Amino acid sequence: SATSTSSAISQVPAPKYTQFTETLRQVKSSLGGRPLTLAEKILYSHLADATVTPPARGEGYLKLRPDRVAMQDASAQMALLQFQLARLPTTAVPASIHCDHLIVAESGAEADVARSIQDNAEIFNFLESMAAKYGIAFWRPGSGIIHQIVLENYAAPGTLMLGTDSHTPNAGGLGMLAIGVGGADAVDALAHIPWELKAPKVLGVRLTGSLDGWTSPKDVILHLAGQLTVRGGTGHIIEYFGPGVSSLSCTGMATMCNMGAEVGATTSLFPYTPAMASYLKATRRSHMAEAANAVASEYLSPDTDVTRDPKSFYDRIIDIDLSTLKPHVSGPATPDASFPVAEFPKRLREEGWEDRLSAGLIGSCTNSSYEDMSRATHLVQQATEAGLTPKSPLYVTPGSEQIRATMERDGMLQVFEKAGATVLANACGPCIGQWRREEDDTPVNADNSILTSFNRNFRGRNDGNINTKNFLAAPELVTAMAFSGRLSFNPATDTLPRPDGKGEFRFTAPYGDELPQSGFAQGQAAYRPPPATIQPDESVSVKVDPESKRLQLLDPFSAWDGQEIQGLRVLVRVQGKCTTDHISAAGPWLKYKGHLENISTNPLFDTGKVNTVVNALTGEEGTIPEVAKAYKASGESWAVVADHNYGEGSAREHAAMQPRFLGCKLIIARSFARIHETNLKKQGVLPVTLQDEADYELFEQGSVVETIGLPDLIKNPKGNDGTLQLRITPADGSNPRVIPVTHTMSVDQLGWFSSGSALNRIAQG
Ligand code: F3S
Repeated sequence: SATSTSSAISQVPAPKYTQFTETLRQVKSSLGGRPLTLAEKILYSHLADATVTPPARGEGYLKLRPDRVAMQDASAQMALLQFQLARLPTTAVPASIHCDHLIVAESGAEADVARSIQDNAEIFNFLESMAAKYGIAFWRPGSGIIHQIVLENYAAPGTLMLGTDSHTPNAGGLGMLAIGVGGADAVDALAHIPWELKAPKVLGVRLTGSLDGWTSPKDVILHLAGQLTVRGGTGHIIEYFGPGVSSLSCTGMATMCNMGAEVGATTSLFPYTPAMASYLKATRRSHMAEAANAVASEYLSPDTDVTRDPKSFYDRIIDIDLSTLKPHVSGPATPDASFPVAEFPKRLREEGWEDRLSAGLIGSCTNSSYEDMSRATHLVQQATEAGLTPKSPLYVTPGSEQIRATMERDGMLQVFEKAGATVLANACGPCIGQWRREEDDTPVNADNSILTSFNRNFRGRNDGNINTKNFLAAPELVTAMAFSGRLSFNPATDTLPRPDGKGEFRFTAPYGDELPQSGFAQGQAAYRPPPATIQPDESVSVKVDPESKRLQLLDPFSAWDGQEIQGLRVLVRVQGKCTTDHISAAGPWLKYKGHLENISTNPLFDTGKVNTVVNALTGEEGTIPEVAKAYKASGESWAVVADHNYGEGSAREHAAMQPRFLGCKLIIARSFARIHETNLKKQGVLPVTLQDEADYELFEQGSVVETIGLPDLIKNPKGNDGTLQLRITPADGSNPRVIPVTHTMSVDQLGWFSSGSALNRIAQG
């Protein structure tokens, strides 16, 4: 019942602020009492050993104790399969599992959830039984999207959470330091192993002014992404500060933190504000708001010296004046290609893009707050009253059952449905390649453009069609533009002809409530929150059918043999952007997340170019996974050479496990995306960076690579200077070259490498 639900929620205890502040005081005194940014405060209060002085930002590693772990259904499978190998009775910290990624978007919420439950029963049952066995909260399919549910139930200011999804930073909107990781990192936290993070730098974003009219938090982050690019945040926590912060809603701040992942930031964070207190109260957590209020200035904001003289304390500062910001759009194919929506007509002309908008999608984990939905509803109401209907199909993905039920109670869903919009399940479907576009008339593989309020727009990400151009924008813009059916339509300035012929219709700027006036509705009983504390039950048996095509228990990877790595073939030299989607495709392959062998047959390094390489052993051509498998079958290991920011995108460790499973030992890149580099290390693959970027050209398909100095490095890890050498012999056997490379392996991480994987190391005790 609703009553038992709210009592369950109120049992999620307030954070241990006394403990955090005590630890912080101790660490701060070891740092000579210097003023701290908010990011540092939260990190240092979660150090595994407060007697160790933390390294300077950007140097060395922090060993941390997270407070909580959240996992989505796709990444939870591998995380839990790995956790099982640790042989512990329960998780060391509270954890939750969210069934959201495996739900298709096809014909509407009810039918899609029912069908997905049927199709994925084996996985959902596996996850549910793991949850029951180890005392983890289990959120059923249809209950909502991980980041929205975390915000509504578990996010708490000043706490540290790991999530097995790259948009975990969403919870930064509620002042939580929430970091997206691979399953292997989550296992660290679940198994009470200090979790290592390279001490991040802190990028301060100073906000002044306030948003107005058509602009929204989405525009702030799209604008910032354009400035920073997809690599600009790498190695940094983005910390917002300044007078503009207090003008933002909690959920708006969450949108901005969510999309900090798009610039490669470790996470994003806001100081505690009254808007956060209001959100906590609206989500039945007044006790948390009270506890947070008590430590707001000491613990939940940067020190006053930092805000007074930010240049001295942040590693970099970016200024954004919210009052002058214009509504933005970003795309196609990359989230940092942002421009003011007013420039769309010019872009269309210059790039030769079609003006037709084939579909508009709003909601998702990024933008489905009450505020977003009420502002979008306001626009639909205006257009409907003028007799207009959307010219492009419009889809709504509520972030959670709580949001959906509240929209229904407050009449918003009805407004959308009356206008002909399709309400999809409270799940990820169209955001993650599970969108089956049967209702609109866009032919398969057709060149077409969509507008979404989602966070990512890599090719093929939504509907599996690499010819779909996805432009990201605020839900308000997506909604209004769907009524024109054209990308060139600027709803702030342009008009649409009224169907009754009586002149032109112009939207007035959207308006909406930040929070529902009569509180959030609870929604369907089946989707209500599980109890806050769940006892583990060791009698629950977790079964994995050996014949299963989707789940497979893991075998440990083999350990390092103590020698230099020799005779490594360069399987492929990847050109340009290589995201985790390219390395380990999502969409239809998601169903093999828990079966390493089967998922490893999917296209590797498919960057849209011809998926063909030559097998150096036979001289025959094959697809990349075929040749990798052939090398593996003949006992050969191989390497990948990559460009900048290799592995940007998601936290999925499969992008590291699959190559490892197929025999990859070394990745040589111009630079790495942080999460992926760590994932490679966890799986026992050696990631190295070219000291001279031009050396990239020395490699070709079939070159043979050898390490020089690896045994010394492993035997004397403390004395290592972060360098190593590689000998490259061209495929034709001509003169070898020796080049220097660098690595970022800590002493512990070198141990993972020599044991074959981090998990092997754990199992060794
Ligand atoms: Fe889901 Fe991630 Fe999108 S959580 S809604 S797939 S960004």
